[in-house]
Parts: sequence; structure tokens; C-alpha cells
Amino acid sequence: MLPEGEPAPPSGALPDSALRAVAATPFSLYVHVPFCRTRCGYCDFNTYTAGELGQAHDASQDTYLDAAIAELDLARRVLGDDVPLVSTVFVGGGTPTLLPSDDLGRLVTAICDRFGLAADAEITTESNPESITADGMKRLVDYGYTRISFGMQSAVPHVLTVLDRVHSPGRPQQAVAEAKAAGFHHVSLDLIYGTPGESLADWETTLEAAMAADPDHISAYSLIVEPGTRLANRVKRGELPMPDDDDLADKYLLADDQLGGRGFAAYEISNWAANIDARCRHNVAYWKGFNWWGIGPGAHSHIGGTRWWNVKHPARYAARISEGVSPAHAREILGDEDRRVERVLLELRLSDGLDRSILTGTERRRVPDLVSRGLAVVEDDRLVLTLPGRLLADGIARDLLD
Ligand SMILES: C[S@@+](CC[C@H](N)C(=O)[O-])C[C@H]1O[C@@H](n2cnc3c(N)ncnc32)[C@H](O)[C@@H]1O
Ligand code: SF4
Repeated sequence: MLPEGEPAPPSGALPDSALRAVAATPFSLYVHVPFCRTRCGYCDFNTYTAGELGQAHDASQDTYLDAAIAELDLARRVLGDDVPLVSTVFVGGGTPTLLPSDDLGRLVTAICDRFGLAADAEITTESNPESITADGMKRLVDYGYTRISFGMQSAVPHVLTVLDRVHSPGRPQQAVAEAKAAGFHHVSLDLIYGTPGESLADWETTLEAAMAADPDHISAYSLIVEPGTRLANRVKRGELPMPDDDDLADKYLLADDQLGGRGFAAYEISNWAANIDARCRHNVAYWKGFNWWGIGPGAHSHIGGTRWWNVKHPARYAARISEGVSPAHAREILGDEDRRVERVLLELRLSDGLDRSILTGTERRRVPDLVSRGLAVVEDDRLVLTLPGRLLADGIARDLLD
């Protein structure tokens, strides 16, 4: 479900309050590729298999890139000449690497032609390990991609089966080696912990396999049982148990211990990097509240305190684009207090911590209690969660805010 919001203008025009922030704020692009070969039972992302799209020709993979490029044109018109060079691009999904490498290359060229890319631009694509070859990776590097993130999830066959992942164990590790040989500067693996039937030893096996592949970035997410998914239905029918909070906490601690032992540090609660350069700058841009335009069905955007989100279905998206109107479904213009609360929620998750000066007087008076309970420390006037604090981050943010 998309949030409600207020109507977004068909022209895509932004309020002056948003446009005023364009020139001085780093700018990123997200491009959503809403296609997957099969749907994993736990996933409720906005993605479609060929069967789910049926005969909707306008929504097909073949015509998708032209629609995405048309939205880039719209973005360029709306943002005007003051928009800075693009600092990060993230092509996510879905499964971006279901598109031919040449299409993914055409996308980078289109971005470069319309906006220009910063000399050190980070250009990431997500990929399912079975959806790309070594040769395809070389072509992506030639087209300018600097970073690739593979969905590995687990190294343990019975866990992959519960997750409906179709790659064979071992393929993600091989894909990391191919990506490094192809010349990607940064390679990341996504892992999931807490899958029903996964033991602590299984999770340790996965962490060891991921580390042995030698990526420079790992994202590890606790399995969320999203309502309406096949996984949720199986849990509801009692076929599978709900992930257990204590088990999830043990697995988080194990991850931090194992990854920390290999020199990886968590720079955000679910993201570990081998060094500062290996941090995903695109995600950091989200967490710091910079500007980004999200291209594609269901994609979210944020420019200077105005947030909007596109229509969800690829056929509706394609129809809007072919009519020459903005694909935005609705938007919201955040007030100063909304933006402050958002900063608290996001910055508290970062290892750099939260700037204490943005807290109200009442909120600041709650900090000593967090510190005395060992949940946070104050460093250079920033509030930084400790490891036990990271396990309780959402509750801490709720308790801290007025
Ligand atoms: C939406 S996928 C897109 C990239 C690619 N298709 C893949 O599966 O890796 C990005 C990541 O989101 C995570 N993810 C998706 N659904 C999740 C869920 N219900 N719980 C936890 N993580 C989830 C997975 O780790 C996945 O790698
Ligand atoms: S491959 Fe990725 S995006 Fe596609 S259904 Fe699975 S988790 Fe979701």
C-alpha cells in the first residue's frame, strides 16, 4: 500500500521551498527495476514476474528503460539548471540485472547526458547472483558501474529453500570473485537472519561463507514477515514459526562479533563496511536527508523537505509516462518538526550518531538515563548507540522523542 499524502501536480512541479534546497544539497538518483524471474515468498517489494504482468505490453521489460529515461527528462526539467552533478546512483529492485547489460549501460549514459556525474560518483546495481554472468559484470564496469550488491541471504540449503531463493549455495561467493575480477570498486552481500528453521550454527555458517567470499560490505537484515506474503500465510497456518525476538538478538550479536572480528564496522544498524570508503554513499545520502529522485513504479523521492511517491503498477506508470504526465501518485511537504523527528529516527541508527543539539530540552534531559543504562554514549556532543542500544534502536527513538 502507498501512503495517502496530498495530490501531486501532473506537471511534477515542486514547491519553491523544495527548489530552494536543490543547488546546495548533494543529489542522488534511485532507479527501480520492478521485475523478478520468480517471487520469493517473504518479499513484498514492488516487483512483478512475467506471469504477474501478463499481457501488459506497456509494462514489459523491453519498454521499461524508455519510460525510465522519460522520467529522467521530467526530473531534469523540474529541477532546472542549478541541480548539482549526480553524486550517487542506485539501481535497485526487483532484479535490475534481468535487464540486458546494454540497457543498464544506456541508463548511465542517459543520466550523464541529462545531469552529469560527479567525478567520484558511486554507481551501484543490485543483482541476484544467478541473474548475471562474469561477462555481464565486465560490461557493467565498462558502462561506469562502480559497485554491485548481491542478494546472498544464506549459505545454508534448507534456509534458502524456506526463503524460496533459487540460486545454488556457492554461487554468490563465486559472483563476488567475478565482480572483483571485472573491476567493481566495491562489492556487497545482502544476508537475512532469523528464517524459520535457521539455527545459530546455520547463521554462523552463512556469516563465515560471506566473509570467505571477501566482499567489502555486508548488509544483514532480520527477516520481516510482511503481511500478505506467502511466508506470512505459512506462518498464519502454523506451518512455520514466527521469528523469535531473542533468537534475532542473538543472531545480530553474532553478526557484529564475526564481522567485527574481520575488521568490518557497523556504520548503520544493519550495514557493515570494511573501511570508510566501502560504505554505501547512496544509503548514507538517504539517512542524512539529502536530495534524491526515485525513478520508476512505486519509487519514492525527496527534494528539500517534499516527499512524493510514484504510482505502483508498471502498467499505470507506463501509461502516465506515455501521456506525458508525472507518474507521482501523491506527495507530502514536511514541516520543520517532521524533518527534525525524521533526523532523530535516522541519525540514531548511524555509528556517527545523532547531533544532540537537534533534541528539545525535554529530550536532552532523557539522555543521561540512556547513558546510565549502557544503551548510548555521548561523543563530541553526538549521541551514539552502544551495541545493546542498537538492539533496541526503535524503542529508544520512541522513548527519546517528545
Ligand atoms: C528487495 S531485494 C532486491 C535485490 C535482489 N532482488 C535480491 O533479492 O537481493 C533487496 C534485499 O532486501 C532484503 N529483503 C527483502 N524482503 C525482506 C524481508 N521480508 N525481510 C528482510 N529482508 C528482506 C533482502 O535481503 C534482499 O537482498
Ligand atoms: S529476488 Fe529480490 S526483489 Fe525479487 S522477489 Fe526475491 S527478494 Fe524480492
